[in-house]
Amino acid sequence: MGENKKILITGVAGFIGSNLADRLLKEGYSIVGVDNLSAGVIEQIPKGVEFHKLDIRSIEIFPLFSGVDVVFHLAAKNCIEDCQQDPVETADINVRGTANVFEASRRAKVRKVIDFESSAVYEGITKFPTSESEVSPQSFYAVSKICANLFAKKYGEFHGVTSVGIRPFSVYGPRQDYRRTIPPSMPAFAIKLLKEEQPIIFGDGSKRRDFIYVEDLNDFMLLCINDSRVDGKVFNLGSGTNNSVLEVYHLVKDILKSSVEPTFKPNLSGEAQITLADISAAKALGWAPKTKIEDGVKILVDFLKKEKELGRL
Ligand SMILES: NC(=O)c1ccc[n+]([C@@H]2O[C@H](COP(=O)([O-])OP(=O)(O)OC[C@H]3O[C@@H](n4cnc5c(N)ncnc54)[C@H](O)[C@@H]3O)[C@@H](O)[C@H]2O)c1
Repeated sequence: MGENKKILITGVAGFIGSNLADRLLKEGYSIVGVDNLSAGVIEQIPKGVEFHKLDIRSIEIFPLFSGVDVVFHLAAKNCIEDCQQDPVETADINVRGTANVFEASRRAKVRKVIDFESSAVYEGITKFPTSESEVSPQSFYAVSKICANLFAKKYGEFHGVTSVGIRPFSVYGPRQDYRRTIPPSMPAFAIKLLKEEQPIIFGDGSKRRDFIYVEDLNDFMLLCINDSRVDGKVFNLGSGTNNSVLEVYHLVKDILKSSVEPTFKPNLSGEAQITLADISAAKALGWAPKTKIEDGVKILVDFLKKEKELGRL
C-alpha cells in the first residue's frame, strides 16, 4: 500500500491520468495533480486529488514537487493530427514541458520520474513484434516523444534524476478521450452507434492495433513505483496481440446489438498499418496484461452508455 507517500501526476484530468489517480488513491497514495485542462476535463479528476490548474511549462509548478516521492509525467499534446498542424506547440509542450517537469523533479530531489512516451516512436518499423530498441519516429508527435526521452536520459546522466520510460500501445478504457479532432476508434465507434449514426472507418479496416486495457497499464505503474529493476529503462506496454479495426468495430457493434454498418474513408496520412508490442521486458518483471479485449470493450461501452444517459455525449 501507499503508506501515504506523495505522488504527482501531470495530465491528471486526461484519460490515463485520471484512471491512474483513481487506482493510486485506492492503494493509499496521496496525489497531487497538475493539468492545464487543454484536453482534460475537471469533472473526471477523482475526488481526493489535490488539483492545480497549471501548465507544465510554467515555473509555478516547481513548489508542488516538494516532498513528492514519485512523479508520473503524462501531460502532452498527443493528437497526432493536431501535432502535425502545430509542430512548434508540439515541441513546446512535449519537449520543453518535459524538461521543465524533470527540472522541477531535480530541484525537489524526487526519487523517480515515470515518463510517458508512446508506441508512435515505432511508426516506421516493419518488424513485429517490436522491441524497445527499434525506434523510427515519423510524425512530429513521435519525434517530440523521442526528444523528451533523450532529455530524460540526460537528466539521469548529468543530474542523477532516476526515470523510467513508458511506451504504451493503444490504451483503452473508461474516460478514453472522445473529444479529439479524430477520436480513437473504440470510443468513436461506440458513440456513433449509441447515437444511431454511421461510424467512420479510415482505410479498409485491416489496420491492426495492439490494444491494452488501462487497468493493465496501471498494474505496471504500481510495479514501477517500488521496483528498482525498472530504473533507467524503457518498457513497451501492450497486450502482445493485435486486432484489426474491423474486428474492433464488430466487437462494439455486437455489444450494442446494432445493425448499423460503417462508412469507409481514405486512410489518414502517416498511420502505421500494424502495431504489435514485444512485451517480454515488462513480463520478465512479473507483469502481464490480464484483461481480454471482449471484457475491456464491454466496460468502455457501458461507461459511454452512462455518459449518454447523463447527456454528456
Ligand atoms: N491513450 C493512449 O493510447 C496513449 C498511447 C501512447 C502514449 N500515450 C501517452 O500517455 C499520456 C496520457 O495520454 P492520454 O491518452 O491520457 O491523453 P489525454 O489527452 O487524455 O491527457 C493528457 C492531459 O494532459 C493535459 N495537458 C496537455 N498539455 C498540457 C500542458 N501544457 N500543461 C498541463 N497539462 C497539459 C491535457 O489537458 C490532458 O488532460 C500522454 O503523454 C500520451 O502521449 C497515450
